[in-house]
Amino acid sequence: MSAFLTKYKRTHYCGALGIAEAGREVTLMGWAHRRRDLGGVIFVDLRDREGLVQVVFNPEHEADAHREAHRIRNEYVLAVRGRVRPRPADMENPDLKTGRIEVVADELEILNESRTPPFLIDAPAGEASENLRLKYRYLDLRRRDLQEKLFLRSRAAAATREYFQREGFIEVETPVLTKSTPEGARDYLVPSRVNPGTFFALPQSPQIFKQLLMVSGFDRYFQIVKCFRDEDLRADRQPEFTQIDIEMSFIDEDDLMRIMEGFIVHLFQSCLGVGIARPFPRLSYHQAMERYGRDNPDTRFGMEIVDLTDILGRAGFNLFQEVAASGGVIKAIRVEDGRRLSRKDLDQLRDYAAGRGARGLAWARVNAEGWTSPIAKFLKPEEMEAIQTRMGAKNDDLLLFVADAPGVVNDSLGNLRVHLAGRLKLIDPNVFAFTWITEFPLLDYSATEGRYTSTHHPFTAPVMEDLAHLRDDPGRVRARAYDLVLNGSEIGGGSIRIHKRDVQAAVFAALGLEQEEIRSKFGFLLDALEYGTPPHGGIAFGFDRLIMLMTGADSIRDVIAFPKTQKAACLLTDAPSEASSEQLRELSLKILK
Ligand code: AMO
Ligand code: AMP
Repeated sequence: MSAFLTKYKRTHYCGALGIAEAGREVTLMGWAHRRRDLGGVIFVDLRDREGLVQVVFNPEHEADAHREAHRIRNEYVLAVRGRVRPRPADMENPDLKTGRIEVVADELEILNESRTPPFLIDAPAGEASENLRLKYRYLDLRRRDLQEKLFLRSRAAAATREYFQREGFIEVETPVLTKSTPEGARDYLVPSRVNPGTFFALPQSPQIFKQLLMVSGFDRYFQIVKCFRDEDLRADRQPEFTQIDIEMSFIDEDDLMRIMEGFIVHLFQSCLGVGIARPFPRLSYHQAMERYGRDNPDTRFGMEIVDLTDILGRAGFNLFQEVAASGGVIKAIRVEDGRRLSRKDLDQLRDYAAGRGARGLAWARVNAEGWTSPIAKFLKPEEMEAIQTRMGAKNDDLLLFVADAPGVVNDSLGNLRVHLAGRLKLIDPNVFAFTWITEFPLLDYSATEGRYTSTHHPFTAPVMEDLAHLRDDPGRVRARAYDLVLNGSEIGGGSIRIHKRDVQAAVFAALGLEQEEIRSKFGFLLDALEYGTPPHGGIAFGFDRLIMLMTGADSIRDVIAFPKTQKAACLLTDAPSEASSEQLRELSLKILK
């Protein structure tokens, strides 16, 4: 017996109808989006995934259908047979794709009823709390706006496969139940019933497997793949997210960047109809930090950071002298037409910078008579002149200075710059600005761990000419790593890998890893390096982040069908949840309370 008992067969999508169908008889199926009862005539906006169309129930035209239409409530599922007719010119609705027509109903069948939804499907965002929407995600996903984001995501996945298949990449699936992979977050663990007391880790990325595929000779690999990381969540992070993962043999950085730029150009052209110019600009990590204060610079606007330590460190302001003498720096940004910012705004900016650790924020308004500034009294005219020249300052510009340790200065001014750009509307939302960041340091000193850790991951190749410093000055060694940044977000990262066992051993040593730990964690990779590993490298794009930027979404949750909250929970299914004592016993687990 068919579960679908209606005698009707759909002929068209509601949202796809247009003036071309005028006069045609159609059968539609969808949800009652809105019903308006004008006493005589009943109008129903019928909705399906392609959009809305207006259906008219007229008692004089078809009394049975009109009578039944009285029962319709929001979100009822309907089958309607009727005829398409052009609307009278004064009734056309230019806001609706189907706004030049309507469907006059001959027959109606209510296929299913609906309880009153906990929120109106097209209520303005913000009206229902996000938690309520996530709990009823299947209703939230009826929203046009979310559906369109997921449609784009689907097209982007197709365009990705199209491009990489065409370029000779082989799609290979890698395990989800595996061993810890080295991306620096905490692992999600899965207990093994068969082997009591042991655990699989969900992969933070397919990193090791894709390298092994190069050892096997696949030459070009790609995969659209789920990754799992137990880390602090933010607006652009999810505990489970998707990567476009790529690895290639016998290539260098330039080869890889060329092919990845080709991918981005194809993706944006085919999904958004937007042309992206190439080659993409490149900045070294050092340049990015100097000019933008961060390694994911938003290059859609200027307001670059300028180093003034040489001028201000010697000027007559004690505080600045002390900062410079103790290894700190003094840097500034220039706000064009600073009159837009009041004295009160400046106090707010100081508080903002303080939130980023800056002990103060000095300011100067440049005008024809000189500077209006709390620090002007400490400076000679030629010093102010030199600063103005270096910063390209004109009358009415505002200069903002921070003096502190280099990390604090970069962080506070780097964030202040982005904050101000948002506030002063300096960013054109239609621009997509890509930048490669290169020459990252290979290692970072971790004060908490008291040792060096990998900036990227431990398989990243060092720049060969820096290799000698691995012993005497590990912080100085540069990595053959690169990130791709779009509009201030890191959308991808990768590296050329180590393919020689002795180099890998030297890097592990610099990381302070014990032989035993190395063996148990990565022994199989080290073994593989001894069986003819080709030179290779790769990259992974954050697919969710890319879609987020392509659709202009504010949150990564808006481009994931069933996302988790900031607390890494799924409100729809109520996961994670407790396991039964039976399950725990089978897994040989005890919960400590
Ligand atoms: P990486 O750790 O830089 O590199 O990750 C690659 C890209 O994945 C995205 N990303 C995330 N997106 C959403 N939520 C998260 N929690 C999250 N974490 C990362 C970012 C990032 O640029 N195996 C290496 C790649 C390689 O070396 O080839 C890797 O995973 O956009
Ligand atoms: P004062 O002489 O104490 O009034 O300081 C003069 C200006 O220097 C004030 O505008 C302070 O906000 C600013 N200032 C104080 N500490 C710093 C700092 N570390 N970096 C930049 N400006 C600072």
